[in-house]
Amino acid sequence: MCGIVGAIARRNVSKILIEGLSRLEYRGYDSSGIAINNEQGVFSHRAVGKVQALKDKFAAEPLDGTMGIAHTRWATHGKPTENNAHPHSSGDDLALVHNGIIENHETLRAQLKAQGYVFKSETDTEVIVHLIHNELKTQPDLLKAVQATLAQLEGAFAIAVVNHADKERFVAARKGSPLVVGVGIEENFVASDQLALLHVTDQFIFLEEGDVVEVTRDEVVIYDQQGEPQARPVSVFNHNVDATDKGEFRHYMMKEIYEQPKVINACLEGRISENKVLTSCFGADSDFLKEVENVHIVACGTSYHAGLVAKYWIEDLAGVPCAVEVASEYRYRNVAVPKNTLFLTLSQSGETADTLAALRKAKEQGYLTTLAICNVPSSTLVRESALTLLTNAGAEIGVASTKAFTTQLTALLITSVAIAVEKGLSAEKESALVQAMRSLPAYVNAALLQDEHIQKVSDRFANKQHALFLGRGAMYPIALEGALKLKEISYIHAEAYPAGELKHGPLALVDENMPIITMVPHNDMLDKLKSNMQEVAARGGELYVFADRSTNLHNEDNIIFTEVPKVEEILEPIVHTIPLQLLSYHVAVVKGTDVDQPRNLAKSVTVE
Ligand code: G6P
Repeated sequence: MCGIVGAIARRNVSKILIEGLSRLEYRGYDSSGIAINNEQGVFSHRAVGKVQALKDKFAAEPLDGTMGIAHTRWATHGKPTENNAHPHSSGDDLALVHNGIIENHETLRAQLKAQGYVFKSETDTEVIVHLIHNELKTQPDLLKAVQATLAQLEGAFAIAVVNHADKERFVAARKGSPLVVGVGIEENFVASDQLALLHVTDQFIFLEEGDVVEVTRDEVVIYDQQGEPQARPVSVFNHNVDATDKGEFRHYMMKEIYEQPKVINACLEGRISENKVLTSCFGADSDFLKEVENVHIVACGTSYHAGLVAKYWIEDLAGVPCAVEVASEYRYRNVAVPKNTLFLTLSQSGETADTLAALRKAKEQGYLTTLAICNVPSSTLVRESALTLLTNAGAEIGVASTKAFTTQLTALLITSVAIAVEKGLSAEKESALVQAMRSLPAYVNAALLQDEHIQKVSDRFANKQHALFLGRGAMYPIALEGALKLKEISYIHAEAYPAGELKHGPLALVDENMPIITMVPHNDMLDKLKSNMQEVAARGGELYVFADRSTNLHNEDNIIFTEVPKVEEILEPIVHTIPLQLLSYHVAVVKGTDVDQPRNLAKSVTVE
């Protein structure tokens, strides 16, 4: 992960770079740094902790110049110390920032040490800057030195490098990690994400794998992996609202939770008519729907949980076998691909390294086609997949995914129904499902009305160390997601189980100190789940029950009841997600953790 920014202008770029880092902090926030290349030389500031620490250092000792690079770090190699923070330098004149992992760094480090290079950090990054320095000894052109260096690197990277001898340009490159070019007037930029540059431009060029770019004030020259100059199109960013604004909310996460009715609506828009799913949403080539005989879904984290819900929907509605797997496992094993299998990836960012690697592998495996359900139209995943269904959630800043998840579920429901229609789902059933989907934004709004009640319930979690989440059927993945949210932002250890598995082990953990959060569906599993709840109550466990009123569940001695709106069964996983998001949010606030930027995590995991 990590975020990088680079700028060259006629004005001072230091404030632009630091603002860019603040906007990229979601990618990593354990340390940050900046290097300015001005008339006097290349000067750096680095600081441990959030970007604010760098800002403080900067305020005490300003650095000005018209060219610079900056970095916010999520540690992979070496602890979050000032020495390990980027930029890294070689000699006095060369500084570099890097996002990604250099897999052969140990071999390169040994070679460089043998040549007399002294390493000041524990990072894999430092080998890159020394290699460039070494190349510059034999040929002084920065672009050529970078190209020669990249040829020696294995792994994933996006880099930006400044050299004191080069007053008119800096050089950047990407392979395996994201990098965009921001095009301005008499000034140009690079960054890990467009968001970092929205304060200076809305024109962007998306670099391809292996591209190296020479950035001057007036021009951006792109070379492909073979060193050939390439023209890449400029696209205009079209978000009406700047998502980096928290508005009236204390945290991005809460803002994003409350945006869900609106973004679910945006996800449905143009994809359903009065009573049908519009298959045109998959692009001109929706013929694949007729041929699908199997589905393989691959994703990571929260996106993986969305995939697990879709398995229930696809097998139930379409009768099509569906397997769901985490990308970090899928990419490294031999997979058996039955004829006519759809390969479906889910990703908020579209830049998750394991998911991208899985897609690239799948493209060699004879799948029917590849479909990405993704939130970022310009992402690598979208560009490399044959088909795309965008979730339209708008930028998500909070590290814990909320609106991205519920819009993924919405897009998956659309996809499940579209496949089912081709497999003979009746027009009547399709129409009923589409009507239900249309009500989703209102149901989600109704679920949000429990916010105040859930806030009170959350106080009871302040001293808890562990929690157990239970669900059955499509609610089991929602229990998994609820547990993940709680872990991510409140640091309470939480696990999820299919309620029927309780007696096969986790029941041993149940006592008065163990809160049991139960997602109650209103279907033929209700009575079975009530029996599971009895098993818990009999052992003195405290039950937090989320259910609709018609389940006849209510507050009792050891039951804390939270009402969830009564909705069509197919929608329950989406609507039941909302109270769990609110619960984890409020528990985190009670515990005083950093809600939007929890420790050790990052929003976009572009390393393995
Ligand atoms: C990180 C984030 C999670 C996210 C996962 C997959 O771990 O912190 O919130 O679910 O990556 O990300 P993706 O962008 O592929 O959905």
